[in-house]
Amino acid sequence: MTIKKICVIGAGQMGQQIALGAAINGFDVILNDSFDTALEKADKWSKEYLAGRIEKGKMTQTEAEAAQSRFKIEKDLAMAAQAADLVIEAIVEKLDIKRELFARLDRLCPAHAILASNTSSFVPSKLADATTRPDKVVDMHFFNPALVMELVEVVQGPQTSDETAQAIMQVSRQMQKTPILLKKEINGFVVNRILGRTFEEACRLLALGIASPEDIDIAVTKGLRWPMGPCATMDLSGIDTCYNIRVQRFAESQEEIDRPPAILKEMLDAGTLGRKSGKGFYDYSKK
Ligand code: NAI
Repeated sequence: MTIKKICVIGAGQMGQQIALGAAINGFDVILNDSFDTALEKADKWSKEYLAGRIEKGKMTQTEAEAAQSRFKIEKDLAMAAQAADLVIEAIVEKLDIKRELFARLDRLCPAHAILASNTSSFVPSKLADATTRPDKVVDMHFFNPALVMELVEVVQGPQTSDETAQAIMQVSRQMQKTPILLKKEINGFVVNRILGRTFEEACRLLALGIASPEDIDIAVTKGLRWPMGPCATMDLSGIDTCYNIRVQRFAESQEEIDRPPAILKEMLDAGTLGRKSGKGFYDYSKK
């Protein structure tokens, strides 16, 4: 199937960049949000972003104008969804709210439209049965910032058709991304599962008193050439977020390997949540 018109729902951090990225790469895009102020902010940001690209010589005036003309905001969900070939949902990470939206989109979108979620954690089967088109429900997981990060994880649920998964792979490539296909659904997808293992190993090494957070991070940045070590990354993500992700994963899998590291719970109880609280593995209060 050919996808030309994309509707992005949720004009927050992720949605606005996904929408503008699609417009820059030739798709007709409509961005919708349930909060008018979010749409107004996204509209202003898109203009500033494109102006910045011209200034830096990354885009010509004509290219920027063409991208802007393909990028529309629409406050009314029915209007936004009525002609979409593909909807990319990027709203709050709450399953009941996403399911309610998917059910509405199912009623509002053309029969051929694919409904994709940019969710970080919910597999397609958690959303598919809220619709009458489970074969057209898929995850399309971008990374933050979506205009910069190259990877898209495409997750095919048990009901997602091959045609749908391949169409999303193709759209991702047209958006200048490198997509990977998860042929079965699994909590955390690929990147966050691997990242989670590095967090867990760092916590184990700390608990055993093997090395300090600083030295663990130096080992990973200098030895593996990762841009950031696991302790600094956990502080950035938020210790509460890291802990909650593991609690959810353990609840689903019941596998010992997924049990949240005790050190994260201790930090959570102590209120040392990372950068946001001024202290985590590192002390940010003096910076
Ligand atoms: P955000 O909080 O910046 O934006 C969410 C937007 O959705 C807000 O503008 C809000 O007004 C809007 N919204 C909420 N409920 C809505 C509804 N029912 N209908 C229409 N709009 C609604 O959130 P962010 O960070 O952009 O995350 C969005 C999704 O992307 C989440 O599912 C998140 O897990 C996922 N994600 C986030 C990443 C990140 O690093 N922030 C990375 C990859 C995925």
